[in-house]
Amino acid sequence: MARYKYPIFFVIALTLIGVGYILAQTATPTIPADFECSQAELIFVQYDFQVALDTFDEQYLQSPDTALALLYDTGKAYQQLALKCGYLPPDFASLAAGTDMAIIMNALNDLQGDPIRGQAIYNNLELSGTADQVACAGCHESEGGTAPLTEGTWTRWDEIHRLEPQFEGYTFAQYIVESIIYPNAYIAEPYAEGVMPIDFGEKLTLQDLADIITFLESQDQLLD
Ligand code: HEC
Repeated sequence: MARYKYPIFFVIALTLIGVGYILAQTATPTIPADFECSQAELIFVQYDFQVALDTFDEQYLQSPDTALALLYDTGKAYQQLALKCGYLPPDFASLAAGTDMAIIMNALNDLQGDPIRGQAIYNNLELSGTADQVACAGCHESEGGTAPLTEGTWTRWDEIHRLEPQFEGYTFAQYIVESIIYPNAYIAEPYAEGVMPIDFGEKLTLQDLADIITFLESQDQLLD
């Protein structure tokens, strides 16, 4: 029996080194890309974050800056985790929309859109909730035909896009949100890719999105 004693210590030592290495590697907690909220997954990911936070003391002794960055990033990741699982904080309407479709659509369920404010933001008469000029109309009202005209946006959805395979199961709101947050996910014919800015997730709040969707819903003019 005795000859197995040392290999076991060796294995334990290697395991400890391995765990230490993994801990050092997972210093910045992130939510896995394929995360879908369920009780089991939530508990699993939360535990991962906790493990990352457990390295705080040690990191702080080595480098306070790194350790504080860990606290900050973990805080953000925790917030994102709660949002992904359906939590809406009291101030959610005024948060930047971000780029997570599920979080955005969940928040929009709880928001009432104001078409007048939506139109004002769209036409650059009012700043967005993040105090940015988004100037949608600058492209979407131009006669040069660089972007689809605002007029008839809802009708084009109803008569054309809704029937296209890639939008199966989409609502109008989903189509509009995706068009705004991920302009290159689908390129409306015959317009060019890469023209519409890709940073609206930072420049529009969830309330702005709700308002713009409600405004575009009113664009139900007949198509030529
Ligand atoms: C710099 C020009 C530009 C700006 C600014 C811009 N867009 Fe666009 N947009 C485009 C182009 C070009 C397309 C067509 C190509 C595509 O689908 O990405 C498009 C497509 C769209 C579509 C899908 C087509 C449709 O009509 O069904 C929507 C919706 C849309 N934009 C909304 C907006 C909103 C809302 C804003 C402001 C927050 C905005 N755009 C700002 C250029 C622009």
